[in-house]
Amino acid sequence: MRDDNVGDKMNIKELTNKYIMNTYGRFDLALVKGDGVTLFDENGKSYIDFASGIAVNNLGYNNKVINSAIMEQLGKLIHVSNYFYTEPQGLLAEKLCRNSFADKVFFCNSGTESVEGAIKLARIFAKKFSKKGHKIITMQNSFHGRTFGALSATGQQKYHNGFEPLLEGFTYVKFNDITDIENLVKSQEYCAVIVEPIQGEGGVNIAGKDYIKRLRELTFKNDILLIFDEVQVGLGRTGKLFAYMNFDVEPDIMTLAKPLAGGLPIGAVLAKDEVAGAFEPGNHASTFGGGPLVLAAANAFFDEIMKDGFLDDVLQKGDYISLKLNDLKAEFPKLIKDIRTIGLISAIEFYDLKARDIAIKLIENGFLTTAVQDKVLRLTPPLIIAKNEIDLIINAVSLVLKNIT
Ligand SMILES: Cc1ncc(COP(=O)(O)O)c(C=O)c1O
Repeated sequence: MRDDNVGDKMNIKELTNKYIMNTYGRFDLALVKGDGVTLFDENGKSYIDFASGIAVNNLGYNNKVINSAIMEQLGKLIHVSNYFYTEPQGLLAEKLCRNSFADKVFFCNSGTESVEGAIKLARIFAKKFSKKGHKIITMQNSFHGRTFGALSATGQQKYHNGFEPLLEGFTYVKFNDITDIENLVKSQEYCAVIVEPIQGEGGVNIAGKDYIKRLRELTFKNDILLIFDEVQVGLGRTGKLFAYMNFDVEPDIMTLAKPLAGGLPIGAVLAKDEVAGAFEPGNHASTFGGGPLVLAAANAFFDEIMKDGFLDDVLQKGDYISLKLNDLKAEFPKLIKDIRTIGLISAIEFYDLKARDIAIKLIENGFLTTAVQDKVLRLTPPLIIAKNEIDLIINAVSLVLKNIT
């Protein structure tokens, strides 16, 4: 046994820096507690959260409904294998299907896994039914995850660097531009198109309605599956239950994850029967996916966001933040290049300022945000955020920008 420095108690940051692999560009902040939309650091300082993890804590922290669902299930059953039936899994699958285009669900543990599942489903569907090739069209500037399939589907070189060769068979095309796709879909090589209707990590880039509609027409006509990655923007984030509902089209496959279990790890692949039917026992599986504890939390989360008025409230607050952010842009026309917002996901794009520097200044002022691209600051508050808390961050950003100029 190694006993270097035993007894020399290290603080949270020292422990992490010494023993955790260095894969995260962490802020200099250790969080210990959360309540509602507020997080607390080790010194008791409070922060209003405009990040929600990374768009995960949609009902905030210490949510009584989520907590009691977990506590109740904890006393019953945490885990059994997927060789057996459990109630929370069936119940959530029914809710997801009744409220979406889908007929069937596969549960896994994260966003990247849900994308892996979608890729595998698209490939086996092609092999068995559409008789298309294995290739998939994906978007430049997209983000789908860190495992090799999802990483290969991700259209950003910075995530690929050092890990090539990637999985073969992905063609990257311009997001929100149908030109290249018009030609590619004619080839028998392609079985699917994967797209985030709103690119989250790419900088909150919102696809046009006409583009998404045309994409649906083209994929339908050419017997190619349309996969929507709604890991970040599904489940109420845009003010609609699912992001695709903003575009008046339905995908063939949809991936979900982040907020679905109120902060516990989960992923889901949803599909129509005709597509899901390509999977048969043994094709795909997960040890932990759909486990009863996580699914109990997920049922509670889903019931909360389905309550009367919840999503309307998100829409209203989305309109409000949009108005306020555009006022901010008018106040700082030389610093802010663009505001992009839909529901409660927003981006402030700067001309020259580094988003991470602004995020650090906001932490000093008691607000958490995320820097998604070099010059794009993203706001994804818990969906329970109040208008006066939106006012507070707008004032804080204004103050930070004033101090810069
Ligand atoms: C659209 C999208 N897909 C997939 C992922 C990967 O999810 P996870 O980090 O849970 O694997 C993310 C994560 O940010 C995402 O935004």
